[in-house]
Amino acid sequence: MLTYFALSNDNPDSVAKHESEDFVYKPSPNVVSDTKERRYYSSSSQTYILPCDEEEQYRLNMQHILFEKLFDGHVLSSVKNNLQPGSTVVDFGCGTGAWVIDMAKSYPDSTFIGVDIANVFPNDNLPPNVSFSIMDISKPLDFKDNSLDFVNSRLLLGGLQKEKWATMLTEWYRIVKPGGIVQLMEVDFMAADIVPGAERFIKGLHDLMEERGLDFFVAVKLPALLRCNGFNVVERNARKMEFYGTDLSKMVADNWDRLNLGFKGGLVKYICPEDPDSYEVLLEGGIKACIEQRWFKRAVGVVGRKPVV
Ligand SMILES: C[S@@+](CC[C@H](N)C(=O)[O-])C[C@H]1O[C@@H](n2cnc3c(N)ncnc32)[C@H](O)[C@@H]1O
Repeated sequence: MLTYFALSNDNPDSVAKHESEDFVYKPSPNVVSDTKERRYYSSSSQTYILPCDEEEQYRLNMQHILFEKLFDGHVLSSVKNNLQPGSTVVDFGCGTGAWVIDMAKSYPDSTFIGVDIANVFPNDNLPPNVSFSIMDISKPLDFKDNSLDFVNSRLLLGGLQKEKWATMLTEWYRIVKPGGIVQLMEVDFMAADIVPGAERFIKGLHDLMEERGLDFFVAVKLPALLRCNGFNVVERNARKMEFYGTDLSKMVADNWDRLNLGFKGGLVKYICPEDPDSYEVLLEGGIKACIEQRWFKRAVGVVGRKPVV
């Protein structure tokens, strides 16, 4: 593991602490150990390319903090300006539940529900306005028509197959109230030209996602996806995730390191099939290239509103 990420300006324990003192990881029943190093989802959800172990929970919580800093909060301004007390909010693909819990604390008069395919979220000592539920969001959703004020999802690109984005957004249109809002956040890996030395991992990720039927380019398609499924796009925002030169660069680089270590189970055959043990060394070289040549990804956020008819 590289040590680009020091959190030196913050409390050094802040990421771990964010998992909450009471957070205990509970493996899902549909989880198996595919490799001796990391634990991945079972074959029933073979498309998902990331692990579901404690290291991944840590990375997700760190990434949650990174996104909060990038966007100066957990929601874009049009959501901030529109979220009324008494709202019902659902986060689809909630992961560790960090977004749900932080939002629930900021909006104590609203109700927050986190949904994920596995019980990777905490089950105890939740704020009174939080609950979690297991659901496959690529299938019909267990919510009533016109019942939700705000629907959120972040970083589903590693789990939702290309054709399922439209399926999910059709469902969102059904369950969101007229006038209700939806927010999507994803990462665009192609915002900058790929730098020499790092192309192997970018191309490998693209190929792995293609193999699993996932959409490597989904971040730039979000506005069109919303429009095609009936929503008006009311806000678009994008923030550079720079590997060099900003207060957040160390966190960006460290997250990329951890992400690619998580991808290793699927990515190794695209990176170094003849010599799997060289994966970490190649990754370290790739990250150094990203830092030296000031590569960046882009975090993209889009807000849509269901028209009032
Ligand atoms: C990269 S994580 C992002 C978690 C969280 N949204 C965040 O930003 O921290 C993607 C999450 O989507 C979940 N997921 C993937 N496919 C899913 C599906 N079909 N139904 C529900 N959840 C799914 C995974 O279990 C994982 O927790």
